[in-house]
Amino acid sequence: MRVGFIQFNPVFGDHAVNLETMKRLVSSVEADLIVLPELATTGYAFTSKEELSRIAEPFESSPSLDVLQAVAQERDCALVTGFGEIDGDRLFNSSALLTPDGDRKLYRKIHLFGAENLFFSPGDIPFAAHTFRDVKLGMMICFDWFFPESMRTLALKGAQIICHPVNFVLPWGPKAMTVRSLENHVFSITANRYGTEAR
Ligand code: ACM
Repeated sequence: MRVGFIQFNPVFGDHAVNLETMKRLVSSVEADLIVLPELATTGYAFTSKEELSRIAEPFESSPSLDVLQAVAQERDCALVTGFGEIDGDRLFNSSALLTPDGDRKLYRKIHLFGAENLFFSPGDIPFAAHTFRDVKLGMMICFDWFFPESMRTLALKGAQIICHPVNFVLPWGPKAMTVRSLENHVFSITANRYGTEAR
């Protein structure tokens, strides 16, 4: 399996611009699997729950995920992207695995970092491994790296590649991910965003 990651500078609150950027960048890469950053569709630095509620999208009927799923179909590759999810009155910092056959899998970040706790609910879906092209893929999001149980659970469930959208804050994340991957005998793909969001 050929894999890749795309790092870019999401524009806060502007789904259209972020989707255009992602479409353009994904179209320049030949891969079976591409990982995009945490909250790639919305940006990261929310200031209120109301603001997040306005721009978060439901997993099953997310216009942003529809656009990216069409890109996955066109490019015949799987995409893993972070997105802001709304489910009833709950908000989640989520990631989606979008495959070219139209299938969609969800992970909701379990270990929220800092101010994320003001806006998001902690994930309520167990870590899981999903088969794509005979490879088992797991998803975790950014600060999940801090807790060894996250990747361990994915590895014990059979995941071979860990897809890890991030908006890193702590500087030890990249090194820790190397060690976590060695400990668990898995590969991992961490996609960070770059740039700053001053709000
Ligand atoms: C983080 O979990 N985005 C620091």
